[in-house]
Amino acid sequence: MRKIRDEILVLKESPLYAERVKNKVFPVIGEGSHDAKIMFIGEAPGKNEAATGRPFCGAAGKILDQLLTSVGIDRKDVYVTNIVKDRPPFNRDPLPDEMQIYGPFLDRQIDIIQPQVIAALGRFSMDYIMRKFGLAAELAPISQIHGQAFESKASYGPVMVIPLYHPAVAIYNQASKDTLTQDFQILKKYK
Ligand code: URA
Repeated sequence: MRKIRDEILVLKESPLYAERVKNKVFPVIGEGSHDAKIMFIGEAPGKNEAATGRPFCGAAGKILDQLLTSVGIDRKDVYVTNIVKDRPPFNRDPLPDEMQIYGPFLDRQIDIIQPQVIAALGRFSMDYIMRKFGLAAELAPISQIHGQAFESKASYGPVMVIPLYHPAVAIYNQASKDTLTQDFQILKKYK
């Protein structure tokens, strides 16, 4: 993991590198247990995350923390990261070339953690993870497949991929928060 961090720190090929240096902010590598059974993968750091170098530590992170608490999972027992490790300007959606450049680092993190469950937060993460694990044929809009568990095989053994709405959708939308709370119930089986 340290090697991954060191490589990302000097990743000048990334279109987001110059912005990181200019703004004097940090890449967000990931945080949590390296023995985690469950790995949460978001999209990209926001303002708070880039300022601190920690994933999901702003408003969306507060929702994630509440969701974890609702199913009795301690955040320190899971691993939380993103596909894209540097903040896209103005929190815009990550671009394909950004996901392409940071994707291999995420792949290595998955091989290190070897999670039984990957919770993909939001459509970009869902798309990347489902394609990576040979589930492209099962891809559908996240509104149709959120909360479902898809079985696949990782290099290290079986893995369950669970697409979930991104916690940010629940910041100002109680209905989405209720849906996310319901969907999180499935994670109880794996804690
Ligand atoms: N949104 C994300 O996708 N990731 C974070 O780390 C924070 C907000």
